[in-house]
Amino acid sequence: MNLPNLNDLRPLGKTEIRVTPVAMGCWPITGMTSIDVSEEASLATLEAAFDAGINFFDTAYAYGAMGESERMIARVLGSRRRQIVIATKGGIAWDATGQRVLDARPETLRRQCEESLRRLQTDYVDLLYLHAPDPKTPVADSAGALLELQRSGKARAVGASNLTLRQLQEFHAVCPLAAFQPPYNLLQRQIERDILPWCHANQISVLPYWPLMKGLLAGKLPRDHRFAPGDGRAKYPMFQGEEWEKNQDFLDRLRVIGARLGKPVAQISVNWLIAQPGVTSVLCGAKRPEQICETAAAMQWRLTAGDLQAIERALQDRGEPIVGSAV
Ligand SMILES: NC(=O)c1ccc[n+]([C@@H]2O[C@H](COP(=O)([O-])OP(=O)(O)OC[C@H]3O[C@@H](n4cnc5c(N)ncnc54)[C@H](OP(=O)(O)O)[C@@H]3O)[C@@H](O)[C@H]2O)c1
Repeated sequence: MNLPNLNDLRPLGKTEIRVTPVAMGCWPITGMTSIDVSEEASLATLEAAFDAGINFFDTAYAYGAMGESERMIARVLGSRRRQIVIATKGGIAWDATGQRVLDARPETLRRQCEESLRRLQTDYVDLLYLHAPDPKTPVADSAGALLELQRSGKARAVGASNLTLRQLQEFHAVCPLAAFQPPYNLLQRQIERDILPWCHANQISVLPYWPLMKGLLAGKLPRDHRFAPGDGRAKYPMFQGEEWEKNQDFLDRLRVIGARLGKPVAQISVNWLIAQPGVTSVLCGAKRPEQICETAAAMQWRLTAGDLQAIERALQDRGEPIVGSAV
Protein backbone atom coordinates (compact mmCIF):
# COMPACT_ATOMS: atom_id res chain seq x y z
CA MET A 1 0.00 0.00 0.00
CA ASN A 2 1.16 3.49 -0.91
CA LEU A 3 0.74 5.31 2.44
CA PRO A 4 0.35 9.09 2.24
CA ASN A 5 3.30 11.06 3.46
CA LEU A 6 2.14 12.43 6.84
CA ASN A 7 3.37 15.88 5.80
CA ASP A 8 0.76 15.79 3.07
CA LEU A 9 -2.20 15.30 5.42
CA ARG A 10 -4.17 18.50 5.80
CA PRO A 11 -6.38 19.65 8.71
CA LEU A 12 -10.13 19.68 8.12
CA GLY A 13 -11.15 23.15 9.25
CA LYS A 14 -10.13 23.70 12.88
CA THR A 15 -10.61 20.02 13.76
CA GLU A 16 -8.04 17.34 14.52
CA ILE A 17 -9.19 15.37 11.48
CA ARG A 18 -6.46 15.01 8.85
CA VAL A 19 -7.20 14.28 5.20
CA THR A 20 -5.24 13.62 2.05
CA PRO A 21 -5.28 16.38 -0.62
CA VAL A 22 -7.12 13.99 -2.95
CA ALA A 23 -10.34 12.33 -1.74
CA MET A 24 -12.42 9.77 -3.58
CA GLY A 25 -15.84 11.04 -4.68
CA CYS A 26 -18.23 8.09 -4.37
CA TRP A 27 -21.05 9.29 -6.63
CA PRO A 28 -20.05 7.67 -9.97
CA ILE A 29 -19.96 4.16 -8.42
CA THR A 30 -23.74 4.35 -7.92
CA GLY A 31 -24.22 4.34 -11.70
CA MET A 32 -27.08 6.85 -11.41
CA THR A 33 -25.65 9.21 -14.02
CA SER A 34 -22.57 7.30 -15.26
CA ILE A 35 -22.79 4.48 -17.76
CA ASP A 36 -21.04 1.07 -17.71
CA VAL A 37 -20.82 0.92 -13.91
CA SER A 38 -20.45 -2.52 -12.35
CA GLU A 39 -20.41 -3.48 -8.70
CA GLU A 40 -17.16 -5.38 -9.19
CA ALA A 41 -15.37 -2.37 -10.71
CA SER A 42 -16.85 -0.04 -8.08
CA LEU A 43 -15.58 -2.17 -5.18
CA ALA A 44 -12.18 -2.46 -6.87
CA THR A 45 -12.09 1.34 -7.30
CA LEU A 46 -12.61 1.89 -3.56
CA GLU A 47 -9.85 -0.61 -2.80
CA ALA A 48 -7.54 1.04 -5.34
CA ALA A 49 -8.19 4.48 -3.82
CA PHE A 50 -7.11 3.25 -0.39
CA ASP A 51 -4.08 1.47 -1.85
CA ALA A 52 -3.12 4.66 -3.71
CA GLY A 53 -2.89 6.49 -0.37
CA ILE A 54 -6.29 8.21 -0.26
CA ASN A 55 -7.73 8.34 3.28
CA PHE A 56 -10.85 10.47 2.58
CA PHE A 57 -14.10 9.15 1.08
CA ASP A 58 -17.01 11.39 0.12
CA THR A 59 -20.51 9.93 -0.05
CA ALA A 60 -24.13 10.91 0.75
CA TYR A 61 -27.46 9.50 1.87
CA ALA A 62 -28.68 10.10 -1.70
CA TYR A 63 -25.77 8.34 -3.47
CA GLY A 64 -27.70 5.40 -4.88
CA ALA A 65 -31.43 4.74 -4.71
CA MET A 66 -30.88 2.52 -1.65
CA GLY A 67 -27.64 4.01 -0.33
CA GLU A 68 -25.45 1.76 -2.49
CA SER A 69 -22.45 4.09 -2.21
CA GLU A 70 -22.43 4.04 1.60
CA ARG A 71 -22.94 0.25 1.63
CA MET A 72 -20.00 -0.34 -0.73
CA ILE A 73 -17.72 1.84 1.42
CA ALA A 74 -18.63 -0.34 4.43
CA ARG A 75 -17.96 -3.55 2.47
CA VAL A 76 -14.54 -2.54 1.20
CA LEU A 77 -13.23 -0.29 3.95
CA GLY A 78 -15.19 -1.34 7.05
CA SER A 79 -12.28 -3.30 8.49
CA ARG A 80 -10.06 -0.20 8.09
CA ARG A 81 -12.55 2.25 9.61
CA ARG A 82 -10.01 3.97 11.91
CA GLN A 83 -7.63 4.58 9.01
CA ILE A 84 -10.13 6.44 6.88
CA VAL A 85 -12.17 9.64 7.06
CA ILE A 86 -15.79 9.28 5.93
CA ALA A 87 -17.94 12.23 4.92
CA THR A 88 -21.63 11.78 4.22
CA LYS A 89 -24.53 14.17 3.63
CA GLY A 90 -28.21 14.48 4.46
CA GLY A 91 -31.04 16.57 3.10
CA ILE A 92 -31.51 15.03 -0.36
CA ALA A 93 -33.38 11.79 -1.05
CA TRP A 94 -35.24 10.03 -3.88
CA ASP A 95 -38.98 9.48 -3.88
CA ALA A 96 -40.75 6.33 -5.13
CA THR A 97 -40.81 7.69 -8.71
CA GLY A 98 -37.08 8.44 -8.70
CA GLN A 99 -37.55 12.21 -8.33
CA ARG A 100 -35.06 14.07 -6.15
CA VAL A 101 -36.52 15.52 -2.94
CA LEU A 102 -34.91 18.36 -0.99
CA ASP A 103 -35.89 17.81 2.64
CA ALA A 104 -33.62 19.19 5.35
CA ARG A 105 -36.07 19.32 8.22
CA PRO A 106 -34.36 18.47 11.52
CA GLU A 107 -36.28 15.19 11.91
CA THR A 108 -35.32 14.13 8.37
CA LEU A 109 -31.64 14.92 8.93
CA ARG A 110 -31.68 12.90 12.16
CA ARG A 111 -33.39 9.92 10.51
CA GLN A 112 -31.09 9.98 7.47
CA CYS A 113 -28.01 10.18 9.71
CA GLU A 114 -29.15 7.04 11.61
CA GLU A 115 -29.70 5.22 8.32
CA SER A 116 -26.34 6.34 6.90
CA LEU A 117 -24.60 5.03 10.04
CA ARG A 118 -26.34 1.66 9.62
CA ARG A 119 -25.38 1.42 5.95
CA LEU A 120 -21.81 2.47 6.71
CA GLN A 121 -21.72 0.03 9.65
CA THR A 122 -20.15 2.59 11.90
CA ASP A 123 -21.27 4.52 14.98
CA TYR A 124 -19.93 7.88 13.77
CA VAL A 125 -19.09 9.73 10.58
CA ASP A 126 -16.13 12.08 10.51
CA LEU A 127 -17.94 14.79 8.59
CA LEU A 128 -21.69 15.23 8.18
CA TYR A 129 -22.94 17.77 5.65
CA LEU A 130 -26.16 19.50 4.82
CA HIS A 131 -26.24 18.37 1.17
CA ALA A 132 -28.29 21.29 -0.13
CA PRO A 133 -30.63 23.95 1.24
CA ASP A 134 -34.30 22.98 1.51
CA PRO A 135 -36.47 25.94 0.42
CA LYS A 136 -39.13 24.96 2.96
CA THR A 137 -36.79 24.73 5.98
CA PRO A 138 -34.76 27.66 7.38
CA VAL A 139 -31.04 26.96 7.05
CA ALA A 140 -30.66 27.74 10.78
CA ASP A 141 -33.04 24.85 11.63
CA SER A 142 -31.01 22.38 9.53
CA ALA A 143 -27.82 23.73 11.13
CA GLY A 144 -29.30 23.22 14.61
CA ALA A 145 -30.04 19.57 13.84
CA LEU A 146 -26.50 18.92 12.58
CA LEU A 147 -25.06 20.62 15.67
CA GLU A 148 -27.08 18.24 17.84
CA LEU A 149 -25.79 15.25 15.86
CA GLN A 150 -22.24 16.48 16.34
CA ARG A 151 -22.80 16.95 20.10
CA SER A 152 -24.19 13.41 20.35
CA GLY A 153 -20.96 12.04 18.82
CA LYS A 154 -22.61 10.76 15.64
CA ALA A 155 -20.61 13.26 13.58
CA ARG A 156 -17.12 14.47 14.47
CA ALA A 157 -17.54 17.61 12.37
CA VAL A 158 -20.18 19.38 10.33
CA GLY A 159 -20.10 20.73 6.79
CA ALA A 160 -22.44 22.21 4.19
CA SER A 161 -22.75 22.07 0.42
CA ASN A 162 -24.44 24.10 -2.30
CA LEU A 163 -25.19 27.13 -0.08
CA THR A 164 -24.86 30.80 -0.99
CA LEU A 165 -22.48 32.94 1.08
CA ARG A 166 -25.42 34.36 3.01
CA GLN A 167 -26.78 30.89 3.80
CA LEU A 168 -23.29 29.76 4.81
CA GLN A 169 -22.99 32.65 7.24
CA GLU A 170 -26.43 31.87 8.67
CA PHE A 171 -25.47 28.22 9.09
CA HIS A 172 -22.08 29.00 10.63
CA ALA A 173 -23.68 31.32 13.21
CA VAL A 174 -25.70 28.35 14.56
CA CYS A 175 -23.31 25.48 13.92
CA PRO A 176 -19.61 26.15 13.31
CA LEU A 177 -18.60 24.69 9.94
CA ALA A 178 -15.48 22.60 9.39
CA ALA A 179 -15.95 22.35 5.64
CA PHE A 180 -17.84 23.65 2.63
CA GLN A 181 -18.33 21.63 -0.56
CA PRO A 182 -18.97 23.68 -3.73
CA PRO A 183 -18.52 22.94 -7.43
CA TYR A 184 -15.06 24.32 -8.26
CA ASN A 185 -12.67 23.59 -11.09
CA LEU A 186 -10.61 25.31 -13.79
CA LEU A 187 -13.74 26.23 -15.73
CA GLN A 188 -16.05 26.96 -12.82
CA ARG A 189 -14.53 29.58 -10.52
CA GLN A 190 -17.50 31.56 -9.18
CA ILE A 191 -16.62 30.82 -5.53
CA GLU A 192 -13.38 32.79 -5.87
CA ARG A 193 -15.40 36.03 -5.74
CA ASP A 194 -16.70 35.71 -2.20
CA ILE A 195 -17.15 32.20 -0.75
CA LEU A 196 -13.55 30.99 -1.06
CA PRO A 197 -12.01 34.06 0.65
CA TRP A 198 -14.68 33.94 3.38
CA CYS A 199 -14.06 30.23 4.07
CA HIS A 200 -10.29 30.76 4.02
CA ALA A 201 -10.56 33.66 6.50
CA ASN A 202 -12.75 31.55 8.80
CA GLN A 203 -10.59 28.39 8.56
CA ILE A 204 -13.40 26.44 6.89
CA SER A 205 -11.97 23.82 4.53
CA VAL A 206 -13.12 24.11 0.94
CA LEU A 207 -13.55 20.66 -0.63
CA PRO A 208 -14.29 21.11 -4.35
CA TYR A 209 -16.61 18.78 -6.21
CA TRP A 210 -16.53 18.29 -10.01
CA PRO A 211 -12.72 18.82 -10.10
CA LEU A 212 -12.69 17.14 -13.52
CA MET A 213 -15.96 18.76 -14.56
CA LYS A 214 -17.42 15.27 -14.71
CA GLY A 215 -14.54 13.91 -16.77
CA LEU A 216 -14.12 16.80 -19.24
CA LEU A 217 -10.98 18.10 -17.48
CA ALA A 218 -9.28 14.72 -17.70
CA GLY A 219 -8.82 15.69 -21.35
CA LYS A 220 -9.59 12.25 -22.72
CA LEU A 221 -12.96 12.87 -24.36
CA PRO A 222 -12.09 13.61 -28.01
CA ARG A 223 -13.51 16.62 -29.84
CA ASP A 224 -15.80 14.35 -31.87
CA HIS A 225 -17.04 12.41 -28.80
CA ARG A 226 -20.71 11.39 -28.91
CA PHE A 227 -22.38 10.73 -25.55
CA ALA A 228 -24.09 7.35 -25.23
CA PRO A 229 -27.76 7.29 -24.17
CA GLY A 230 -27.93 7.42 -20.35
CA ASP A 231 -24.72 9.45 -19.98
CA GLY A 232 -25.99 12.29 -17.75
CA ARG A 233 -23.31 14.72 -18.94
CA ALA A 234 -24.95 15.48 -22.28
CA LYS A 235 -27.44 17.82 -20.58
CA TYR A 236 -24.84 20.32 -19.33
CA PRO A 237 -23.98 23.38 -21.52
CA MET A 238 -20.24 22.72 -21.13
CA PHE A 239 -20.61 19.55 -23.22
CA GLN A 240 -22.61 21.21 -25.99
CA GLY A 241 -22.03 23.30 -29.15
CA GLU A 242 -19.75 26.31 -28.97
CA GLU A 243 -18.94 25.76 -25.26
CA TRP A 244 -17.69 22.26 -26.08
CA GLU A 245 -15.45 23.62 -28.86
CA LYS A 246 -14.02 26.34 -26.59
CA ASN A 247 -13.42 23.76 -23.85
CA GLN A 248 -11.61 21.50 -26.30
CA ASP A 249 -9.41 24.45 -27.41
CA PHE A 250 -8.59 25.09 -23.75
CA LEU A 251 -7.86 21.39 -23.21
CA ASP A 252 -5.45 21.48 -26.16
CA ARG A 253 -3.46 24.09 -24.20
CA LEU A 254 -3.51 21.88 -21.08
CA ARG A 255 -2.42 18.91 -23.23
CA VAL A 256 0.67 20.89 -24.32
CA ILE A 257 1.49 21.76 -20.67
CA GLY A 258 0.93 18.12 -19.70
CA ALA A 259 3.22 16.87 -22.48
CA ARG A 260 5.98 19.26 -21.32
CA LEU A 261 5.64 18.08 -17.70
CA GLY A 262 5.13 14.42 -18.63
CA LYS A 263 1.86 14.40 -16.62
CA PRO A 264 -1.73 13.60 -17.63
CA VAL A 265 -4.20 16.46 -17.99
CA ALA A 266 -6.34 15.02 -15.14
CA GLN A 267 -3.45 15.58 -12.71
CA ILE A 268 -2.92 19.14 -13.93
CA SER A 269 -6.61 19.90 -13.29
CA VAL A 270 -6.48 18.36 -9.80
CA ASN A 271 -3.15 19.97 -8.91
CA TRP A 272 -4.38 23.38 -9.94
CA LEU A 273 -7.15 22.99 -7.33
CA ILE A 274 -4.79 21.62 -4.66
CA ALA A 275 -2.70 24.78 -5.16
CA GLN A 276 -5.59 27.19 -4.50
CA PRO A 277 -5.39 28.83 -1.04
CA GLY A 278 -8.30 27.60 1.09
CA VAL A 279 -8.70 24.27 -0.73
CA THR A 280 -8.02 21.35 1.60
CA SER A 281 -8.90 18.26 -0.40
CA VAL A 282 -10.21 17.67 -3.91
CA LEU A 283 -13.10 15.21 -4.35
CA CYS A 284 -12.19 13.12 -7.38
CA GLY A 285 -15.02 10.94 -8.69
CA ALA A 286 -14.11 7.60 -10.28
CA LYS A 287 -15.74 4.34 -11.29
CA ARG A 288 -12.62 2.40 -12.37
CA PRO A 289 -9.40 1.69 -10.45
CA GLU A 290 -7.17 3.19 -13.15
CA GLN A 291 -9.10 6.50 -12.93
CA ILE A 292 -8.60 6.97 -9.19
CA CYS A 293 -4.97 5.78 -9.43
CA GLU A 294 -4.34 8.48 -12.01
CA THR A 295 -5.95 11.29 -9.98
CA ALA A 296 -4.44 10.07 -6.68
CA ALA A 297 -0.99 10.35 -8.25
CA ALA A 298 -1.55 14.13 -8.39
CA MET A 299 -0.62 14.05 -4.67
CA GLN A 300 2.96 13.12 -5.62
CA TRP A 301 3.94 16.38 -7.36
CA ARG A 302 3.07 20.10 -7.55
CA LEU A 303 2.69 22.70 -10.31
CA THR A 304 5.33 25.46 -10.28
CA ALA A 305 4.49 29.17 -10.27
CA GLY A 306 5.42 29.21 -13.99
CA ASP A 307 3.02 26.33 -14.74
CA LEU A 308 0.23 28.12 -12.86
CA GLN A 309 0.84 31.26 -14.93
CA ALA A 310 0.70 29.27 -18.18
CA ILE A 311 -2.64 27.78 -17.08
CA GLU A 312 -3.97 31.24 -16.16
CA ARG A 313 -3.05 32.56 -19.64
CA ALA A 314 -4.90 29.64 -21.27
CA LEU A 315 -7.93 30.38 -19.08
CA GLN A 316 -7.92 34.07 -20.03
CA ASP A 317 -7.82 33.13 -23.72
CA ARG A 318 -10.73 30.73 -23.21
CA GLY A 319 -13.05 33.43 -21.78
CA GLU A 320 -15.92 33.05 -19.31
CA PRO A 321 -17.49 29.56 -19.58
CA ILE A 322 -21.21 28.72 -19.30
CA VAL A 323 -21.80 25.99 -16.72
CA GLY A 324 -24.73 24.12 -15.15
CA SER A 325 -25.38 23.29 -11.51
CA ALA A 326 -25.72 19.95 -9.70
CA VAL A 327 -28.71 20.91 -7.53
N1 LIG B 1 -22.31 18.12 -2.94
C1 LIG B 1 -22.84 17.93 -4.14
O1 LIG B 1 -23.94 18.38 -4.46
C2 LIG B 1 -22.02 17.14 -5.12
C3 LIG B 1 -22.36 17.19 -6.50
C4 LIG B 1 -21.57 16.47 -7.37
C5 LIG B 1 -20.49 15.73 -6.89
N2 LIG B 1 -20.20 15.66 -5.56
C6 LIG B 1 -19.05 14.87 -5.01
O2 LIG B 1 -17.90 15.22 -5.72
C7 LIG B 1 -17.35 14.07 -6.37
C8 LIG B 1 -16.75 14.47 -7.69
O3 LIG B 1 -17.75 14.83 -8.63
P1 LIG B 1 -18.10 13.88 -9.89
O4 LIG B 1 -17.70 12.50 -9.55
O5 LIG B 1 -19.50 14.16 -10.27
O6 LIG B 1 -17.21 14.52 -11.03
P2 LIG B 1 -15.62 14.58 -11.35
O7 LIG B 1 -14.79 14.12 -10.23
O8 LIG B 1 -15.39 15.93 -11.92
O9 LIG B 1 -15.53 13.54 -12.57
C9 LIG B 1 -15.64 12.15 -12.33
C10 LIG B 1 -15.72 11.43 -13.66
O10 LIG B 1 -14.59 11.75 -14.46
C11 LIG B 1 -14.15 10.60 -15.19
N3 LIG B 1 -12.78 10.33 -14.73
C12 LIG B 1 -12.31 10.26 -13.46
N4 LIG B 1 -10.99 10.05 -13.44
C13 LIG B 1 -10.61 9.98 -14.71
C14 LIG B 1 -9.37 9.76 -15.33
N5 LIG B 1 -8.26 9.59 -14.61
N6 LIG B 1 -9.33 9.76 -16.68
C15 LIG B 1 -10.45 9.95 -17.41
N7 LIG B 1 -11.67 10.15 -16.88
C16 LIG B 1 -11.75 10.16 -15.54
C17 LIG B 1 -15.12 9.48 -14.86
O11 LIG B 1 -16.21 9.55 -15.80
P3 LIG B 1 -16.36 8.56 -17.06
O12 LIG B 1 -15.60 7.33 -16.79
O13 LIG B 1 -17.83 8.35 -17.14
O14 LIG B 1 -15.81 9.36 -18.24
C18 LIG B 1 -15.65 9.91 -13.51
O15 LIG B 1 -16.90 9.38 -13.23
C19 LIG B 1 -18.55 13.11 -6.49
O16 LIG B 1 -18.14 11.78 -6.74
C20 LIG B 1 -19.23 13.35 -5.18
O17 LIG B 1 -18.55 12.67 -4.14
C21 LIG B 1 -20.95 16.38 -4.68
